[in-house]
Amino acid sequence: MRPIDERAQREQNAQAPRVENLGRRVVALFRPYRARIGVTAVLVMLGAALGVIPPLIIQRVFDDALFPASGGVQLSLLSWLVALMIGLYVGSALVGILQTWLTASVGNRVTGDLRIRMFEHLQSMELGFFTRTKTGVIQSRLQNDVGGVSGVLTSTVTSILGNTVTVIASVVAMALIDWRLTLIALAIMPPLIFVQRRVGQVRARIASQTQQSLSELTAITQETLSVSGILLSKAFNRQRTESGRYADENANQIALQVRQTMSGQGFFAVVHVLMSSVPALIYLAAGVLIVGDVGDITAGAIVAFTTVQARLLMPLTSLMRVALEVQTSAALFARIFEYLDLKPAISDREGAISADEAPGPMGRIEFRDVTFRYPDQTPDSHPTLDRVSFTAEPGQQIAFVGPSGAGKTTVLYLTPRMYEASGGAVLFAGADVRDLTAESIIDHVGLVSQETYLFHASIRENLRYAKPDATDEQIERACRQANIHDKIVSFDRGYDTIAGERGYRLSGGEKQRIAIARVLLKDPPILLLDEATSALDTVSERVVQEAIDEAQRGRTTVTIAHRLSTVIDADVIHVLDEGRIAESGSHDELIARGGLYAALAAEQLAATRTIEE
Ligand SMILES: Nc1ncnc2c1ncn2[C@@H]1O[C@H](COP(=O)(O)OP(=O)(O)O)[C@@H](O)[C@H]1O
Ligand SMILES: [Mg+2]
Repeated sequence: MRPIDERAQREQNAQAPRVENLGRRVVALFRPYRARIGVTAVLVMLGAALGVIPPLIIQRVFDDALFPASGGVQLSLLSWLVALMIGLYVGSALVGILQTWLTASVGNRVTGDLRIRMFEHLQSMELGFFTRTKTGVIQSRLQNDVGGVSGVLTSTVTSILGNTVTVIASVVAMALIDWRLTLIALAIMPPLIFVQRRVGQVRARIASQTQQSLSELTAITQETLSVSGILLSKAFNRQRTESGRYADENANQIALQVRQTMSGQGFFAVVHVLMSSVPALIYLAAGVLIVGDVGDITAGAIVAFTTVQARLLMPLTSLMRVALEVQTSAALFARIFEYLDLKPAISDREGAISADEAPGPMGRIEFRDVTFRYPDQTPDSHPTLDRVSFTAEPGQQIAFVGPSGAGKTTVLYLTPRMYEASGGAVLFAGADVRDLTAESIIDHVGLVSQETYLFHASIRENLRYAKPDATDEQIERACRQANIHDKIVSFDRGYDTIAGERGYRLSGGEKQRIAIARVLLKDPPILLLDEATSALDTVSERVVQEAIDEAQRGRTTVTIAHRLSTVIDADVIHVLDEGRIAESGSHDELIARGGLYAALAAEQLAATRTIEE
């Protein structure tokens, strides 16, 4: 049943999002480039004028130079006129180049501005947004939607300007020749415009579906062709299924693209037929007018009129095409603005202060009755964190232990406000984290998460991410502290070794030690370590633990540990179970208590013995 549900869901999603003042907001994108657009408009009119002059010169060539009434060819006048004509053509060409450059630069800049705005806005979104939205879908808005409107942004302005100038000039010329015939010729316009609008609406709907399908395609690509994705599909021999999934979406995409292309063709065929038939109708109308004896229409006027009218076909069709493109792209703009209008769930409140100005000492962390549910949890479900309270004084080492899924990682995320407590308060240096700027909190925190992420860049660059101005000596010192320096220099290219996509060429333990070196380089007063030694064997664990012990000195440290051996020395150990702090105390106190901690310790001891036997 799932595919049908999904399809229904998609149909619903495919509706272009409703965005108020869409047109005005799109026009506003061009505001910074008003001057350039003004110059473009002037050039367009200049181009139109330059195009009108040669026919006038031709008349002179014939009447004054080649066959003057006085007889005899006026060679010098002829040369001047020919030179003038060539000059005009050269001028037109130059104006054309300049105009194209202006249009292209304005259009691409507007597209670029939109891309940057989207990128920056997406970065300001809270962590939760990224955990609930497929990466490919996010990428698609940035690439396919912004990319999709770039054509409209670059060509629309000149196309509208240029064609409007031509249309107005032609209509004026027609009216000057005969206003009655002009009215007849223009009578076909209202129904055409009406139909054009309807076609545009249909096209916009299809465009919306096309973009939706493109974003699915991107999501599949992104998921399947990532290192982890390909490993999974190879490990389970699912390549054929993945190809099938891709092929289905691809077929959908093809069908939509064809529909989108075809959905204006019938209309344009009608436009073409109608516009081409107008001259024939004009002959008829002229005949009727002459027979009715309501005017003096000369044969010359009819020929001139139909000639001008014929020249109207191209620019009018172009204008309609542009109008259609604009309507189609409205769906894309709506998708773009929909994302730009997303409000980050977590952002600095008005008047938020820096953590340095907080009333308490830097390094103090306090949870007061913190309750937390992830956004997709129902309100009546068991909360992930249930009235958790604890305090870490500056320089203290505190630890969280407990079964997997107890909520340990969640505690670490809440501390620097990656997520927001649903109830209670998280205090940082004595101030509620909601009263502090996000940047100032993060500046004081070093987070080593459960999964180490390394960019596809050299180890040195990955380390410098923490401190862009770090010297090579500082980097080396941090790596020595994290016990990874010797390993790094043993690589062929040492610190210049590329960490590879997602750091796949490094083992889990090596990556973790690089992650530790990275926070050591940042040198924050608070360290948050999420199972930082979990991917290590007992020998390297001891080595890294020494590094961590060294790093912890003088800093508040919140450690999450799977192996209890790593937290024995902590000042306070909190045992977390199903989101509640079940017990707290030092290692010795907790062992003596004989509760959950003692049980976990006994379990791990037994496991170690089994391995050693
Ligand atoms: N983004 C999320 N959305 C919904 N539930 C989540 C999310 N992340 C974690 N959880 C759930 O919250 C609970 C606690 O997770 P976590 O803090 O990672 O546990 P621990 O680190 O103790 O193993 C788990 O049941 C987990 O499934
Ligand atoms: Mg965890």
